[in-house]
Amino acid sequence: MEKLLDIKDLSISFKTDEGTIHAIDKVFFSINKGEVLGLVGESGCGKSVTSMSVLRLIASPPGNIDSGKIIFDNKDLLSIPIEELKKIRGKFISMIFQEPMTALSPLHCVGNQLVETLQFHGNIDYKKAWEIGEQWLHNIGIGDPGKNMYAYPFQLSGGMSQRVMIAMALMLDPKLIIADEPTTALDVTIQAQIFDLMREMKKKDTSLLLITHNMGIIWEMCDRVAVMYAGEIVEIGTIKGIFQEPLHPYTQALLNSIPSISIKREKLKSIPGQVPSPFNYPKGCRFQDRCNYTFDKCRKEHPDLEKINDRQARCFLVKNK
Ligand SMILES: Nc1ncnc2c1ncn2[C@@H]1O[C@H](COP(=O)(O)OP(=O)(O)OP(=O)(O)O)[C@@H](O)[C@H]1O
Ligand SMILES: [Mg+2]
Repeated sequence: MEKLLDIKDLSISFKTDEGTIHAIDKVFFSINKGEVLGLVGESGCGKSVTSMSVLRLIASPPGNIDSGKIIFDNKDLLSIPIEELKKIRGKFISMIFQEPMTALSPLHCVGNQLVETLQFHGNIDYKKAWEIGEQWLHNIGIGDPGKNMYAYPFQLSGGMSQRVMIAMALMLDPKLIIADEPTTALDVTIQAQIFDLMREMKKKDTSLLLITHNMGIIWEMCDRVAVMYAGEIVEIGTIKGIFQEPLHPYTQALLNSIPSISIKREKLKSIPGQVPSPFNYPKGCRFQDRCNYTFDKCRKEHPDLEKINDRQARCFLVKNK
């Protein structure tokens, strides 16, 4: 399988008044052509920092890339000139954020923003670009697209703005889409429609990095999944493998906390304890204080990501499986 994106040894920290936050630490993963990789983990574990770094959207200061490479199409996105990166943004790699207003301009109507995006990356006349934009509003389920092309973002509901941003991200037919909680603000029927569109794109060999807290969506959409905990990848493997036999105790706990539908109402199982402070991670395994299996070595040594068949997991217990 051909690798499309290869993240190697990526560490990013933030300098704050309280000290240095080690947001992500030696993150390694790759995404193949046409593959959907899910990225999951508790709030604050570094998913958005990882995804935003691909298009160099981490402001510096306070952010700092301490180490790493992000290889896309044989180029290191972290070191190419910014002008070159701008040509990649949107056209080859597009991003869908949780907060649509970060991507839309309040000063221009929806139609003009769609046209501008199409014209920035391709030699296309205004009328044709307007037609394509309108078609995309239709594709993402916006009613009366002809009229809504003239709407300004402040005239749209949050869900509609989100869909306009999704249209912008999909319409240039990128090779990679990075979607960070793309549909949280949308109702389930629209969510399903957007994931159908993404599945269509996958058939055309588009790759997707999908961040969501919704494990149902991960199960439905992804080929592989990477699990992050306290700034590190703790497990990565195929969707079936991970859901059927999670190896890392954190992945096990995460899957146990998924609500199941049953007649008897049960309290959701949350993972006891707290994520360690990113200012000061403990020596040894970062999950040690919340893990049922912690033993001496876990408090003294930091486990590496070990390869077990087609899986990788960061746990001393897994090594001997
Ligand atoms: N601009 C910033 N300045 C300081 N710290 C930051 C900044 N951006 C992120 N961080 C820190 O980096 C760590 C990782 O944050 P990140 O936003 O990637 O988490 P996340 O996994 O996306 O969480 P969520 O699921 O809540 O979106 C957190 O400790 C966060 O506080
Ligand atoms: Mg996030």
